[in-house]
Amino acid sequence: MKESLNAVIDELKALRKGGTDHVYVSDEAMRGLQASLASVNASPAIDPKEEAARALAAIPDRIRSASPEEFDQILKDDPVVPTTHKSLLSTSPFRTPPVVTLPEGDKRTRWEALKSQVFECPVCIKHSPERAQVAFGFGDLDADIFFCGEGPGEEEEQKGEPFVGDAGQLLTKMIKAMGFDREQVYLSNIMNWRSLSPTGDGKRSPTIEEMKFCLPYLKAQVEIVKPKLIVALGVSASKGLLGAEAFRSLREIKGTWLDFEGIPVLPTYHPSYLLRNDSKRDKRGAWEDLLKVMERCEVLISEKQRGFFL
Ligand code: URA
Repeated sequence: MKESLNAVIDELKALRKGGTDHVYVSDEAMRGLQASLASVNASPAIDPKEEAARALAAIPDRIRSASPEEFDQILKDDPVVPTTHKSLLSTSPFRTPPVVTLPEGDKRTRWEALKSQVFECPVCIKHSPERAQVAFGFGDLDADIFFCGEGPGEEEEQKGEPFVGDAGQLLTKMIKAMGFDREQVYLSNIMNWRSLSPTGDGKRSPTIEEMKFCLPYLKAQVEIVKPKLIVALGVSASKGLLGAEAFRSLREIKGTWLDFEGIPVLPTYHPSYLLRNDSKRDKRGAWEDLLKVMERCEVLISEKQRGFFL
């Protein structure tokens, strides 16, 4: 029963991630959900891993994302901060994001050095399942367009390349429709590993804390490639790049030029959302964002390209 409720919650989260803020629930479905909830509440089986993840998630962002120095200051200013926050956070491996220092040299030399640092990152290794590869970027180091996703899925972890699963295949088709090969753009992710649900049996959205940990690696890739622009695919990529407080729903900022470290960022739908959601309007919406990208890169756009998904 708990699994089916979790499946409903995961689906709702996925919809929200894709920008949906309302769903219709029939009276009958609502009664079914209430009955399921009552039966779960009647026999609460406490999973310690879930409990720990919940406790960590309940810590306010201001405290969770504070540096050790900021945290000490928060404790001084606000003695009511529960000390459990401190002990929970002090055990969190994400408290100290990596420091990246790129060597002198050409783009390839700097990129290879960064890749080695990521592959040797103990936190990334610890969070990548056995036999999976720590994920890193792929593509042209001189690309104008930098696509940023959330994090690897199972297939990406196996292959060690971003966007090779179903969502990746759709993204590759979209890139082709723009007139490029995937080798002519740069593809990467906010996360270098797949965030698993507390029970370890499914993917979940990464936490702000996890994304903040991995961000220096993404930032360094942007610094090496120096793209003309970044396309942020979905909610996590947009939050990771722009900050958790930058928006409430992706629809608020989708298709709007924003900024990451001086580089224009265009948030749009994640291809996995487009795969799940058969709305022609959203597909056209995503395509219109890619037309904006082509315009900004001064790519010639044919009439046929302008008319896709109409
Ligand atoms: N989804 C992502 O966000 N990134 C990938 O690399 C694959 C799927």
